[in-house]
Amino acid sequence: MKATPFLSEKAMSEKTTKPKTIAVLCSGGDSPGMNCAIRAVVRTALGEGLNVYGIKRGFAGLLQGSFIEMNASSVGNIIQHGGTILQTSRCPEFHDEEIRREAFHILKRKKVDGLIVIGGNGSYNGAHALQKEHGIPVVGIPGTIDNDIEGTDYSIGFDTAVQTAVEAVDKIRDTAHSHARNFIVEVMGRKSPAIALHVGVCTGAENIVFPSDEINHEQIANDIIRGIKRGKSSSIIICAEGETPGLSYKIQNSLKEKSGIDAHVCILGHIQRGGNPSAIDRFLASRMGYVAVKALLEGESSVATSYVTGEVITTPLEKSLGKKTDYLPHFIELARALSI
Ligand code: F6P
Repeated sequence: MKATPFLSEKAMSEKTTKPKTIAVLCSGGDSPGMNCAIRAVVRTALGEGLNVYGIKRGFAGLLQGSFIEMNASSVGNIIQHGGTILQTSRCPEFHDEEIRREAFHILKRKKVDGLIVIGGNGSYNGAHALQKEHGIPVVGIPGTIDNDIEGTDYSIGFDTAVQTAVEAVDKIRDTAHSHARNFIVEVMGRKSPAIALHVGVCTGAENIVFPSDEINHEQIANDIIRGIKRGKSSSIIICAEGETPGLSYKIQNSLKEKSGIDAHVCILGHIQRGGNPSAIDRFLASRMGYVAVKALLEGESSVATSYVTGEVITTPLEKSLGKKTDYLPHFIELARALSI
């Protein structure tokens, strides 16, 4: 398939009719760069002569009928801002088929014949179900700091979140070094190890720990001790938060109890979700927003925009519903090897 470089063969084969009115919403946790994606969607759509609605507060706002007509200036001066001008929400009600039917009728009343959903796995699942049950064309744009969506190398916001965490850990390293202290820094990412892996390597952490793995307390203690032996005054352990934050306190207690090592805990938390998007996230979001609208115009009905080896393409949405599992544990080895 070569008609347009960003459409996959599978997607091309699933064409439906061209939309006249589209809507865009953000769903799930916000991520820096969502505004750039909204801007790209709105401006591309307007340039193509479409009507565009912004839906406030994700699927919850859709159900409340919170639609705003967007024009070129609705998205002026937002490219540099974190968060999302449309706001977002988690909407567990959307798991319910009846609720989705209601959502479809609301969209129908507004004559929306194409929906763009910027969010993570949960949001993709909601969009996919809506499309399957009611036939409304949907396009997902991956917006999550966790970078855990299957089928795309990167999601919007990940680069900025990693940079925010790296800057924070650099600051912690300053004080850790001055006071000859050890720190356990807990980063976001729920079940995804992506942020922890990147931050660990980029900050010269002595070890990176995931809740999904059996925690090797002895290894963590040894990594700290070998540093002390060669004259290091501080150690940083990066820990991924997991389903419920607080793993870092367990490591802190075990280091004290089993090896007599003192360590401070710092949980970075939601600071990682805010802030101005990096140039990489802005560029990715702009490309994806553009491709998403073009995909709807091409008649694609259930796809996600994905970044695959340098290109933004569309991939079948059903292939992006799962969580990435291809994270490489050798990054942990890398961090440890480089911090001797
Ligand atoms: O959006 C992803 C994420 O930031 C995860 O990294 C984190 O575990 C979760 O959202 C926190 O969600 P909430 O802000 O709803 O508590």
